[in-house]
Amino acid sequence: MSTLNTATLIAADKAHLWHPFTQMKAWGAAEHEPLVLVDGEGAMLRDSEGREYIDGNSSIWTNIHGHRHPKITAAIKAQLDRVAHVSLLGTSNAPAIALAEKLVAAAGGEGCPRPFLPLSRVFYSDDGSTAIEVALKMALQYWQLTGQPGRTRFLAFDNAYHGDTAGASSLGGVGTFTSRFAAVHFPVQHVAGIAALDLIDTAEVAAIIIEPLVQGAAGIRLWPPGMLKELRAWCDAHGVLLIFDEVLTGFGRTGKLFAFQHEGVPPDFLCLAKGLTGGYLPLAATLTTERVYEAFLGEYHELKTFFYGHSYCGNPLGCAAALASLQIFEEEKTLEALQPKIALMRELLAGWEENPHIAGIRQCGFIAGIELQRAPGQPYPWQAQTGQRVCLAARKHGLLTRPILDAIVLMPPLCTSESQLRTAVSALIRAVTETCS
Ligand SMILES: Cc1ncc(COP(=O)(O)O)c(C=O)c1O
Repeated sequence: MSTLNTATLIAADKAHLWHPFTQMKAWGAAEHEPLVLVDGEGAMLRDSEGREYIDGNSSIWTNIHGHRHPKITAAIKAQLDRVAHVSLLGTSNAPAIALAEKLVAAAGGEGCPRPFLPLSRVFYSDDGSTAIEVALKMALQYWQLTGQPGRTRFLAFDNAYHGDTAGASSLGGVGTFTSRFAAVHFPVQHVAGIAALDLIDTAEVAAIIIEPLVQGAAGIRLWPPGMLKELRAWCDAHGVLLIFDEVLTGFGRTGKLFAFQHEGVPPDFLCLAKGLTGGYLPLAATLTTERVYEAFLGEYHELKTFFYGHSYCGNPLGCAAALASLQIFEEEKTLEALQPKIALMRELLAGWEENPHIAGIRQCGFIAGIELQRAPGQPYPWQAQTGQRVCLAARKHGLLTRPILDAIVLMPPLCTSESQLRTAVSALIRAVTETCS
């Protein structure tokens, strides 16, 4: 694509687009040159000027097997040749049915003690936030239908992030994202950690939600090992429903297909999105148990129906992509191939821990957060946007990623090769050295 085209695209972008989580005044400034990404292959992306980058945050934590994977591309094209979309309201479609079956089998309690309540039902929606909305509304209605209508409150953890629709945003524990909307939030109490739960009066609590193993948008913060087991036991003791938000951690990022499989602890609701389609199309799923599902069964006039849905629930293109992605996990033994890369990431980042500009490195599976500091024990002022400046510098060395304040996220697609991983880490080291020294 020519330079002229890039300039034209950027001008039109600045004239008409409003980007998410972006201060548009800075974006619109004459000197700011946004990247226009035009194609990709595997872990690489290319911009409109032909420059190549490693997709260091998997295109906001979505991509799993790489861009333009022939099997996912073919699955979407084949479905497109049949029908692009039909509704799940009153009709069904083959990819949505097949995917529900596969998801139930995949989330079928690998590592979970038996007997446990299997996740046997799949409710589709569009993205991470809607997967959470579904779980919240199902939990509320479940308690109404089972004789405990007073259970109307939710518990969430400090620093949590569960999305931006009203219900999901109510659960958020990062004030910058949520406090402006506090007046219209669902009733949610935030807790600092598992120990704080002992102080909670649970009589009105419908459910508690957690990002298992790692809080992503909090800056890649790790939970202590064993936390999920303790939380499950606490929920069982108090009759509280447990929601696992695996929007980020699902589909291999932590080294297993689902994060909860590390501790063998099943939830009552499992929320999936982002990597569900391999990162190709927006699709989400909320899985739940037969116990929850059966509470909603009744005669039409009893109004037990779950009156909830989106136009694109169970979109066949998204489901076809998701089926192909799950098949790739099997055929390419993605999780086995990932283990040495997780170890290499740990090794490459460990060599960097002594750097005076690094306050800490947090890694969970193939997800890393690298926290910057001005000097030992001294954070940068957040207004200085140091994390952002480091990421802009990394672009020049062929790495695309985004920070969360001053935590740089490294979360490339699972298909990233060892040499691409080395390149990504060395690009970051150069960017930190140039920006922070
Ligand atoms: C843990 C978690 N939950 C929910 C969401 C919201 O997902 P979406 O942006 O697809 O609505 C995100 C997004 O980053 C997330 O990280």
